[in-house]
Order: sequence, then C-alpha cells, then structure tokens
Amino acid sequence: MADFEVIIYEKQNGTGYITLNRPQALNAYNIRMRDELYEVLGAVRDDPEVEVVILKGSGEKAFCAGADLTEFLTAPPPVFARQARFDRDVWGRFLGIDKPFIAALHGYVLGSGIEMALCCDIRLAAEDARFGLPEPGLGIIPAAGGSQTLPRTVGRALALDMLMSGRWLTSEEALKIKLVNRVVSRDTLLPEAEKLADRIKSYGNRAVRLAKQAVTRGIDLTLDEGLNLEKTLCHQLVEDRTE
Ligand code: COA
Repeated sequence: MADFEVIIYEKQNGTGYITLNRPQALNAYNIRMRDELYEVLGAVRDDPEVEVVILKGSGEKAFCAGADLTEFLTAPPPVFARQARFDRDVWGRFLGIDKPFIAALHGYVLGSGIEMALCCDIRLAAEDARFGLPEPGLGIIPAAGGSQTLPRTVGRALALDMLMSGRWLTSEEALKIKLVNRVVSRDTLLPEAEKLADRIKSYGNRAVRLAKQAVTRGIDLTLDEGLNLEKTLCHQLVEDRTE
C-alpha cells in the first residue's frame, strides 16, 4: 500500500483502524483524502485478516468538518472540482463492503463527515459531537450519498429538516433521531468502539457479514424480495457450514 498523507491505517487483532488525519484543517475531506480512502477501503475489503473496521478522526476538535473549502472554492469551477472529487466512487466502494464498520465520532461532524459516518454501520458519538449539513448555506447539496443515506437512517422529515435548514444537532439530539446509536463520554469513545468491535469479532465472521448484507441490500427491496434475499443468504450460510 502507498504511503498515506492524510489518513492513518493500522491493523490490530482483526480490527482495521482508519483515522482521518488532517487535524490542522479539522480533517476536512479533500481530493487526497478521497484517493487514500479509496485505496484503503479496497485494502480492508480484500484483507481476510480485517474483520471489523473503526473509522475515526484525529485531533481534539473534529471527526471531519466536511469538504475542504479551500479546494472547493478555487479553480476549476466548483461544479467541476466537485465532480472530480466524487468521480472515484469512494461511496459506492464504502457501501459495498460487507464487513462491519463502526464510526467513532467526536467534535465537528459536518457535511461529508456525516456522510462518511452514514456509510458506517454503527455510529458511536462522544458527548461533544456536533452534527450539521452546511451545504444549503453554500448553495450545494450533499454529493457523498447523504441525500439518500440520511433519509434511510432518520426518515424523510428529519432528513429534509437537516438538509434544508442547515440546523446543527448535539449528540443527544442525534441520538434521539437515531442518527447515532449511542452517546459516550469523549474519553471512552475509542475504548467503547473497540469493545464493540471485539464483541462483533467474537461471533462468526461469515454470519456477521451475511447479516450486514441482508439488511443493507434488503432495505431497498420489496418485502417479498427482501425475504427471498434472506432465504438465499441463509442457504449460503448452511452450505458454507456443511462444506
Ligand atoms: N475546509 C478547509 N479548511 C477547514 C474546513 C473546511 N471544511 N473547516 C475548518 N477548516 C480549517 C480552518 O480554515 C482553520 O484553518 P486555519 O487554522 O489555517 O485558519 C482550521 O481548520 C480550524 O478551523 P476554525 O474555523 O478556526 O475552527 P472553529 O472551531 O473556530 O470553527 C467550524 C469550526 C467547523 C465551525 C468552522 O471551521 C467551519 O465552519 N468550517 C467549515 C464547515 C463547512 O462549511 N464545511 C463544508 C461542508 S460541505
């Protein structure tokens, strides 16, 4: 794997740790981060030693303060810069991985920060986390999947509220609307994420991955199609066990 500049990738006891690492810019998402994430996501997807992934931000102040505004507002024109930023389908790759992802969120979780968190399966938030979509104020809409993943997570009305009003939420408010699964103190954020990762790893890797597929693929199907998908995945698991 190439040397990373703006993320850190570590692997320990079956857990992959991806850390967004531009603390001086509140871990803002830039083109370099897009390329490095794309690469590291491919690596964790293909590495049989990685069973669970924890995504987190470095520094005290932020998980991620959204798209890098310095890149976003410079030439080429914003629309092209934005296009370039998303041409590599990081989000498709993220959502296509059937290993469990845990987001450990602290400080500012803005714009693409929320969208990255929504690509994860379980979101833990520190008490100091603040969530917002500054896109309306910038005259843009989310382009990292947020317009689709947010309503699927919190429902249409609350997603539209956040998307149109730009209103920020505290971690307790985020918990109330189920944007995050749990709120913990800042100093226990990583230990809690690791405890959860250990618990998931203690179960059958294959069953966990198929359960993720059943839910993430099934959610956009009709009930009949979803039940068929579940049946197929159950058969796969039984076949795996008898082989
Ligand atoms: N892109 C690029 N740089 C960013 C950034 C972003 N999205 N968000 C923060 N930074 C940089 C700041 O420019 C500053 O750099 P500097 O120290 O070289 O001046 C540094 O990160 C610290 O940010 P600062 O604004 O001083 O911290 P703060 O605590 O006062 O405010 C925010 C934090 C998040 C409220 C504020 O930085 C902000 O509004 N950022 C933009 C959020 C945004 O609109 N994101 C785009 C979403 S699409």
